Amino acid sequence: MFFQEQLTQGIPSSLPAKKKRDSSLSHAPKRKDVLSEIEKRLALSNALRYFPKEWHATLAQEFLKELQDFGRIYMYRFQPDYTMHARPIQDYPAKSIQAAAIMLMIQNNLDPAVAQHPQELITYGGNGAVFQNWAQYLLTMKYLAEMTDTQTLHLYSGHPMGLFPSSENAPRVVVTNGMMIPNYSKPDDWEKFNALGVTQYGQMTAGSFMYIGPQGIVHGTTITVMNAFRKKLKNGESPNGKIFLTAGLGGMSGAQPKAGNIAGCITICAEVNATAARKRHAQGWVDVLIEDLEELVSRTKLAKINQEVVSIAFIGNIVDVWERFDQENIFVELGSDQTSLHNPWAGGYYPVGLSFEESNSLMSSDPELFKIKVQESLRRQVASINRHTAKGTYFFDYGNAFLLEASRAGADVMAEDGILFKYPSYVQDILGPMCFDYGFGPFRWVCASGKPEDLAYTDKLAAEVLEEIMNESPEEIQQQMADNIRWIKAAGENKMVVGSQARILYADAEGRAKIALAFNKAIADGKIGPVVLGRDHHDVSGTDSPFRETSNIYDGSSFTADMAIQNVIGDSFRGATWVSIHNGGGVGWGEVINGGFGMLLDGSSDADRRLQMMLFYDVNNGIARRSWARNKEAMFAIEREMDRTPNFKVTVPNLVNPEILENLF
Ligand SMILES: NC(=O)c1ccc[n+]([C@@H]2O[C@H](COP(=O)([O-])OP(=O)(O)OC[C@H]3O[C@@H](n4cnc5c(N)ncnc54)[C@H](O)[C@@H]3O)[C@@H](O)[C@H]2O)c1
Repeated sequence: MFFQEQLTQGIPSSLPAKKKRDSSLSHAPKRKDVLSEIEKRLALSNALRYFPKEWHATLAQEFLKELQDFGRIYMYRFQPDYTMHARPIQDYPAKSIQAAAIMLMIQNNLDPAVAQHPQELITYGGNGAVFQNWAQYLLTMKYLAEMTDTQTLHLYSGHPMGLFPSSENAPRVVVTNGMMIPNYSKPDDWEKFNALGVTQYGQMTAGSFMYIGPQGIVHGTTITVMNAFRKKLKNGESPNGKIFLTAGLGGMSGAQPKAGNIAGCITICAEVNATAARKRHAQGWVDVLIEDLEELVSRTKLAKINQEVVSIAFIGNIVDVWERFDQENIFVELGSDQTSLHNPWAGGYYPVGLSFEESNSLMSSDPELFKIKVQESLRRQVASINRHTAKGTYFFDYGNAFLLEASRAGADVMAEDGILFKYPSYVQDILGPMCFDYGFGPFRWVCASGKPEDLAYTDKLAAEVLEEIMNESPEEIQQQMADNIRWIKAAGENKMVVGSQARILYADAEGRAKIALAFNKAIADGKIGPVVLGRDHHDVSGTDSPFRETSNIYDGSSFTADMAIQNVIGDSFRGATWVSIHNGGGVGWGEVINGGFGMLLDGSSDADRRLQMMLFYDVNNGIARRSWARNKEAMFAIEREMDRTPNFKVTVPNLVNPEILENLF
């Protein structure tokens, strides 16, 4: 009861006691002090407008201190007293079950077991915020508790603008995060406007309440590693005893060894930060920890001879491994890199030749010299990778700006045309043509009852549906179906649930809708409780990101964002329970527009109608665009969809004979 009362109260009626930061939790780094004195006054006025006047004098001092100490005003004092975690949906005080589902997902994204910096309302990625401050959280929960199914709550970068009259068919919540006038979308603009309290970085799933812990990244990385091996190996050849060499055991990169184990190879993952490597080892995400290069060489050779499936964390620099394996002639089948090169000068990449500690001090004591060292290291790393690829290694960029930064460092990574890189990105070669262009992408769900047995039941249903579809599927998509059936059947054993009872798999439009229909029927039959559907933003249609999700669009439109905007608008009037659109995601502020949705299945016939209508568009919008961009796989998929769906008709491209163009110049 205590929880429900506090939740419906919103901003408390009397000033709560001051709260300290919990030192046992991870905290957001101190942000840059970018505001002038006038701007600081503005930030304080902005923060104080959430509270009654009588509190202003006290809070003004406190918030100024937060701004000075942390670079942001989080309003720590207003954190709720109840524990933060997703509760069973019926425990939420709500007039609308849809609103209750959203409350559940918000709390899950702020659960300290799930969120990276929970007291700063950051879910993942260092800056992926659910709200900017605790006042926004409190007000939003209050609005959700009192709203009906004929109102919509509009959230501007975490700020609840309010409840507006709408209809039962409208989304209950519309989320926008970080939407800027394009000329004000540079990284420093985020620092300034976020510090002012008027915008936030929602990353992808944080600001849309759809993050479900590391399960999503493990699944995506597994699909990528398995398909990369397929590109490299002969038909039917097993990855057992074959090497996948990469770097990084951090937030997302830490999924690589687990994915390598599921894919069945030898994963060697270098990590300079011993604490990060040991943490992953203690969590069981990597099998073996090695600190000595000699030992790494002999252990790797043994693993090759025994055709093992094993993952090895090397505590050291990735450049040393590439170079040493080259000297030892250890053949690497698959190579990549997941150091944080989207942030090269402030700890994302550690140069070879310096210890972890030496780098950490150099980057602040002499940033110019540090930059020179990073660029030297990148040139050395690429030179060594080039020697491996000359022997037959398949190397791909993992969406971490490795090739971009290496090219800026003058490394030998450009293709002969001087425009493209000589190596592909994982979306260009793997996820784009093998998954997205056919409509395969992330489909996730959360069992809102909170019961593990509901999740197990939905796993079983999803596997049955996919197996049935696979019997009738064309050759082109058989592999994707098989991979995801294998994944979902083993999903329970992989014990990936953190926070809410959530699951993810990749499916196409037909698969997503049929699985959702099966769930809705099971809810109607009383076999399971309500289910929240969603997806991450790393998908077919939701995201325009020229160096990642849409990097395999080659008609010049990869720098446009029409698809992502069309998608969120299209989803919103086709039945989504909430929709979201964000500037910034894994690749940076100003570099991507990405959107998502959430949908509550409650067993009703209305949910049947909504899910079919919305999931169809949410996948086929992107396939239509990819087909128009002349992507072969998407052209196949869209023709197949038009055959299956009578009132669906899209514009298809006519392919020009290249000779006609060649003769012109
Ligand atoms: N996994 C995915 O599907 C995916 C998709 C797209 C992009 N990415 C990108 O991958 C990058 C990594 O993400 P993260 O969340 O793991 O970041 P992170 O910063 O948590 O982890 C990166 C790790 O690399 C280590 N490192 C840096 N330089 C090194 C070196 N020279 N040798 C060995 N280790 C080194 C760091 O110590 C750190 O632990 C990001 O740029 C992210 O955007 C990942």
